[in-house]
Amino acid sequence: MDQPSHALLEFVNVRKAFASTVTEDSAVDVAVDGVSCGIAAGSFVALVGASGSGKSTLLKTVNRLGDPDSGQVLLAGDNVQDAAPAMLRRRIGYVFQGVGLFPHMNVADNIGIGPRLSGTRASDGRIAELLELVELDGSYAGRMPHELSGGQRQRIGVARALAGNPQLLLMDEPFGALDPLTRDGLGKRVRALHGQLNLTTMMVTHDMAEALLLADRILVMEKGRIVADETPRSLLKGAGGPIAQAMVAVPREQAAALAQMAQLDGPA
Ligand SMILES: Nc1ncnc2c1ncn2[C@@H]1O[C@H](COP(=O)(O)OP(=O)(O)O)[C@@H](O)[C@H]1O
Ligand SMILES: [Mg+2]
Repeated sequence: MDQPSHALLEFVNVRKAFASTVTEDSAVDVAVDGVSCGIAAGSFVALVGASGSGKSTLLKTVNRLGDPDSGQVLLAGDNVQDAAPAMLRRRIGYVFQGVGLFPHMNVADNIGIGPRLSGTRASDGRIAELLELVELDGSYAGRMPHELSGGQRQRIGVARALAGNPQLLLMDEPFGALDPLTRDGLGKRVRALHGQLNLTTMMVTHDMAEALLLADRILVMEKGRIVADETPRSLLKGAGGPIAQAMVAVPREQAAALAQMAQLDGPA
């Protein structure tokens, strides 16, 4: 019987290890070390942590790109491991780390790849609608990925993730490779889409400033564990412990330095 749950997504003691590449013996690297937490429907959650802390591994347990060794991931109360990956990936949008467009397919075919894999075809109208969501006009449909800027490519990555009308959107460092201005614009667009489309969003980032500005809730990962689970406001007020606070210190000090410069210079 399904457990009643207010969380759309729930991690229950999720653990995953990989055979160690560092040592010759049977040692394993524990990538995710017993994570339990619930993600409420409609929330925008950022998963923040240093490189190698287990963020991508945890995210991939949700759409079965990598099943846990033990523990469970529940989507609307159902264990995702009981669901066919193809069905799951229709319900769950996924924006890959480093874009991952198919270079030999045009924009329309890249956006429509999910529907096509499940035996349907996204109409030209639907492709245009998805392009519009990411603020690109219909003329982009026929372009090839190499004819796009990095920001446009990542917009296509977002449009592709939304093609199946998902309830859950997973993003793995979606803006990592973009220049700051493009990054800021696309971040705001995704936050607006999150509200407009009633999404539940989980975004992996190593950038605490981005997490503070976009998310409702921030999970900090360290060595496979969640070491802080706070709102941006409470993190900024000093909560979350030393690891979280060390991460918050960076944008805080930058903001303070900029404010001081602006004060010294006076009005432009
Ligand atoms: N496919 C894999 N094979 C072996 N080790 C892996 C694999 N994926 C991740 N790892 C290891 O698991 C740990 C966590 O990796 P990852 O989840 O990618 O971290 P993050 O996304 O936070 O940078 C790292 O030690 C990494 O080397
Ligand atoms: Mg990663």
